[in-house]
Amino acid sequence: MDAPRSEKVAAQKAHIRPACSQDMPAIYALMAAYDMFGEFSAEGCVVAEVNGRLCGFARVEEADNTPYLRPIVVSRQNQGQGIGKALLHHLLNQKGRLVVISRGSAVRFYAQAGFETTDWEQIHPPFRHECVVCPELETCNPIPLSAAAG
Ligand SMILES: CC(C)(COP(=O)(O)OP(=O)(O)OC[C@H]1O[C@@H](n2cnc3c(N)ncnc32)[C@H](O)[C@@H]1OP(=O)(O)O)[C@@H](O)C(=O)NCCC(=O)NCCS
Repeated sequence: MDAPRSEKVAAQKAHIRPACSQDMPAIYALMAAYDMFGEFSAEGCVVAEVNGRLCGFARVEEADNTPYLRPIVVSRQNQGQGIGKALLHHLLNQKGRLVVISRGSAVRFYAQAGFETTDWEQIHPPFRHECVVCPELETCNPIPLSAAAG
């Protein structure tokens, strides 16, 4: 079913731009809302703004000559408005392809964008290891996925 008109309008108004160092506190706050922690630079990150407010971001980390999406987050109040999809397509067009280890129900979000299951063996070993030792492995149900642009 099509999204209500108000949701589509919100996605059209989302402005996507490269992140800068001043964005990092807002990026960390978005992550913390989903128990995601860690520190990294703004390099490789893009943010989505609606009416000047940062409401989502996505980060690409290169490993083994492969662009990994690590992570993508949209604020709860802005979810379901096409912002995650816009961030995903922006990075796919920029990088040509993306690999991600999807968490929980997010697998359907990626499937909608054309991602398909890939082999765990293809995943950068340290990233694979993060899942193996993660205490949430059972409930998270991580699935390696990849997609190519176009
Ligand atoms: C996953 C996430 C980034 C999606 O962002 P979003 O802005 O809400 O997604 P969109 O509105 O762009 O949705 C795009 C499509 O995916 C679908 N979708 C989004 N989240 C979904 C979910 N959890 N389950 C099923 N479908 C979903 C939407 O219905 C939409 O479908 P359509 O193209 O047919 O309309 C967001 O829910 C989020 O930040 N979740 C918490 C953090 C997280 O889990 N990140 C992913 C880690 S792997």
